[in-house]
This record gives sequence, structure tokens and C-alpha cells, in this order.
Amino acid sequence: MRERRLVVVSNRLPIVLERQKAGKWNIGPGAGGLITALGPVLRNRGGLWIGWLGTPSEKLADFSGLDELLQRGAEETGYALSPVHLSTEEVQNFYFGFSNQILWPLFHDFPTRCNFDPAYWQAYEWVNRKFARAIVDNTTEEDFVWVHDYQLILAGSELMKLGRKRHTGFFLHIPFPPLDVFINLPWRFAILDALMQYDLIGFQTERDRLNFIACVRALTRGVRVLGKGHVCKLVVPGREARVGSFPISIDFKEFAGLSASLETAEQAKTIRDNLPNRKLIFGVDRLDYTKGIPNRLNALVNALERYPDLRRRITLIQVIVPSREVIEEYGRIKKEIERMIGEINGRYTEVGWTPITYIFGSLSRPELVSYYQACEIALITPLKDGMNLVAKEYCASKIHEDGALILSEFAGAAASLHHGALLVNPYDIEGVADAIHQAYIMNPNERRKRMRGLRRTIRGNDVYRWVASFLEAGLAEDMRQFPLMELFVPRRRQDFLPKQSPKRVLRADQNRLVPLPRSAQPGKNAVVFKSKFVSS
Ligand code: UDP
Ligand code: G6P
Repeated sequence: MRERRLVVVSNRLPIVLERQKAGKWNIGPGAGGLITALGPVLRNRGGLWIGWLGTPSEKLADFSGLDELLQRGAEETGYALSPVHLSTEEVQNFYFGFSNQILWPLFHDFPTRCNFDPAYWQAYEWVNRKFARAIVDNTTEEDFVWVHDYQLILAGSELMKLGRKRHTGFFLHIPFPPLDVFINLPWRFAILDALMQYDLIGFQTERDRLNFIACVRALTRGVRVLGKGHVCKLVVPGREARVGSFPISIDFKEFAGLSASLETAEQAKTIRDNLPNRKLIFGVDRLDYTKGIPNRLNALVNALERYPDLRRRITLIQVIVPSREVIEEYGRIKKEIERMIGEINGRYTEVGWTPITYIFGSLSRPELVSYYQACEIALITPLKDGMNLVAKEYCASKIHEDGALILSEFAGAAASLHHGALLVNPYDIEGVADAIHQAYIMNPNERRKRMRGLRRTIRGNDVYRWVASFLEAGLAEDMRQFPLMELFVPRRRQDFLPKQSPKRVLRADQNRLVPLPRSAQPGKNAVVFKSKFVSS
């Protein structure tokens, strides 16, 4: 059997370069759901990841240690990394411009937030061509080139223009809009045409796939749609492509395993001890207007007004991860959120109780899982979201089945989690407030039953199943063409921690947690991540 290599291409590599205080460079983890999902896939199957390091090339001009850092990054991630360098101007026009001021808002149904600057389109084409060249330089015809997300829609067609044949797939992590919205895009024909150049085009949900097909039918001459089910074939003169829906997921065992560790239990207890005698509600989002944070805060106020029994009895822990702040819309939404939190806390705080604990920053995986475990309710209310992995991670981490999930019906995750979640329309302030109250008073049996169902669904549809279903629909006659690097076992907690910190470590071994031998345990004096642990 022929062996193939999996090559992932995305705007960002899974690591970013960070400038230290002393002027030195270091590597840190990248943010967002795309990286969370694809990391374990490549670790599992080996391969190569092509992408940008998150820093404009001018800033790296005098830096001679990049290769060494990338080598370290490859050792830490478990697969090869190949950077595409972008200049400040390219970052401005391609990334902040076309990607995040045109495609991002439009595809999330916010056409009025778009800035259709023609210069952005030129930069988008140019940078996609750059990525196509990087693909040519780093791959062979045997490889499967899997391009990800809205920033790189043109990479496949640019590859064709370079006259290079590759097996290609494209996965869109964000929603695909309905025709009435898509049609606003001045470059709508070029974008549709470019998507059709991939052998397989994948969407998060059936709704997205049908939206795409409706756009192709309306805007492309002579198109035929063949086949039924979640993968069909689109035939246009001179070209055919498969189009499917493949809801992305998480490494369930990794989250469950991490949540089962002693450190997570201890850290979750620290969080709970600092905020006693109440139910904790958890919200964690990248800074983004699509995440519906102001609506969520209004719903919290509504709940405190209409259900006064909730006062002193709930606290919302809201984490916001910095993102795209140089774009005006993002700067504005940050100010708006912080103003609202200040006002709400000013109005409702009593001695010993503050309604909202706010963290602006990024949590490490172990910290995040500790919060998932500590909080009885997850409040996830995006106005529109491709999937929302946080919803799945929360459930996977709820190993004691003691959590309630409030989830926006406009998150892709709602398609599979609607049975166990309390589904809400995030624009319906009273509806969300009612759901908060319902989650608060829900009896433990019902909560457990719902959570058990949610966990079962996610466990049976994890990220490995997602990748297998995509690749099988893409080209693999058999998944053995993509050999496994090693038999998958849940990763160990210390893999996520700074090298010298944990005081006790558990080894996740074929689903059983067993203590590591004493000799293998790192040094003692480590209470990790204290700084991010909240106090009231
Ligand atoms: N995340 C993280 N640290 C944080 C907050 C979030 O590592 O402090 C991760 C989280 O585990 C999840 C991803 O960021 O995997 C967010 O993905 P999601 O699909 O929910 O939203 P996106 O940011 O991709 O829009
Ligand atoms: C979403 C997008 C990803 C993106 C991530 C973080 O998950 O689908 O493509 O990488 O957000 O955003 P950023 O702009 O920081 O890459």
C-alpha cells in the first residue's frame, strides 16, 4: 500500500514567536480552535504543518536563531513545521484586511462590519500565491495537502496556476453564509471558483454545506449536484469537486484524562474555595464580536433582576483571550465589554460577592480544564460560530457529569449537542436569563443525565473520527495510507506544563490513570498557575 504524508496548511502555525523582555525570542502556543483540533491529528499521524509564525518578517530580520527555535518547536509539537513569512504590509492587508475585515464578518453574517477595500483583495491573492509556492517547495505529488480556513481559500487555485498537481482538500472552520449574505462580496465569483478547485471541500455543518451549494447553484453556470447524504459531488464544466459536512471535534480522551489528574482536582478546588457558596458560571472566548459577550452580560443582569434569588448565589467567571486588537471593531468591543463588566460589578457587588470575575489573557490547557471542572455551568452564547470547541471541551472535562451546558443555537456545536444542552437564542436576553436560572435550579439527576448524553456524543465523534472521515472522503481508499505514528494513548498532564513545575504527575496509560514511579516525578515545590486563580 502506498504511504502518504499529511500536509496541513493554515494561516497560523500552531506556535507563535514571542519577544521576551530581554529582546530574545521564544515560542509559545497559538490561539484558537483550529490549532486545538489539528494539533493532535498531526501528532498522531506525523507530517508537516505550513503556516505563518504570527510575527511580521521585518521584526525577524536580525534574528539568526529561527531555525533552532523551529527545530525545538517541531520537537515539542511532534511534527515538522515550515514557516511562510509575511511582511508588515501583507499582515495588514491580507490578515487584518481581507481575512478579518471582509471574510470573517461576512461569513459570520455581519456584512455591515465589512470593509470592502480593493487593496485587501490584491494582498489576499498575493499571500495565497505565496502559500501555494510554499506548498510546491515542501510537498510531492504523493502528499495530501489539506488547506484550512478562510484565510487561504485561494491557495488551491494558485497551486493550479503554478501548474502543480496535488491531492488537495479544504476545510472551512467558520460558517458559510446564505446566498443573500454571500452575494454582497465583490469577489464572490472568484471565491466560489477557487473553492471548486479543491478535490474536497469540507464544512462544519449541513447548514453551511447547503448554503455553499445554494451559492454555487445560483452563481455558477451549468452546475450539477450529484449524490445524496453528507458528501455530494458538484460538477461544473471542466471540473468536479466533492462537498461534505464534517463537524470538527476535540481529542476527548486528552481533555478527560487531564481533568482526571490530581492537579486539576486541586486547582479546581482552589478556584471553588476562593468563590464559595455559589454556583460558578464559566464563559471563555477569544475577544470577538461574534462571541456575543455583551448580550451574555445583559442576560446576566436580566437574570439577577428577574430572579433575585440568584444574587450572591452565582458568579460568572469570564475569560477573554486577546485577539486581533488592532482592528477597530475589536478594540471597540473590548472597551464595551470592560465598561459593562465595570458597571455590573459596581451595581451588584456586595461584601463577599462580586457577580463577575474577569480575566483578560490566555489560559494554558491545564488551567482551562481546571476551570471547566470547577464551574457548574458553561455559558456559551456566540451570535454565530463555526463550531465552538469550548462547548465540547467543557463536556469532555466534566468527568463527574456535574455540569450544565447553555449553548447558542447559532454555534455549529448545537447541531450535535442539542439533546443535552440548554439551547438559547443569544439575542433573546430573557431566554438566556431563563436558561441561567434553569441551569441553576436543575436537579442533579437531570444535570447528570444531560451531561452523560453530551459526553457520549462527543466521545463517539472525536477529532480522530473527524480527520478519518475527511480524508476518506478526500482520497484515501484506506486510512492505513496515512500511517499512525504510534498507538494513541491519552497524553500526560506534564506534557502541557512548564518543564520544571508539577509536584505530582499521573500517567494516563490506556485509559487508566497510574502514578508515575517516584524517580520519574519532577521536583516538589510546585503549585502551578496560582497567578490566574481567582479570589473574590
Ligand atoms: N483556549 C485556550 N486558552 C484560553 C481560551 C481558549 O487554549 O484561555 C482554546 C480552547 O481550548 C479552544 C480554543 O482556544 O480549543 C477556542 O476554540 P473555539 O472553537 O471555541 O473558538 P475560536 O477561538 O476558534 O473562535
Ligand atoms: C478561529 C479561526 C482560525 C483562527 C483562530 C484564531 O478559530 O477559524 O482560523 O486561527 O480563530 O484567530 P487568529 O486571527 O488569531 O488566527
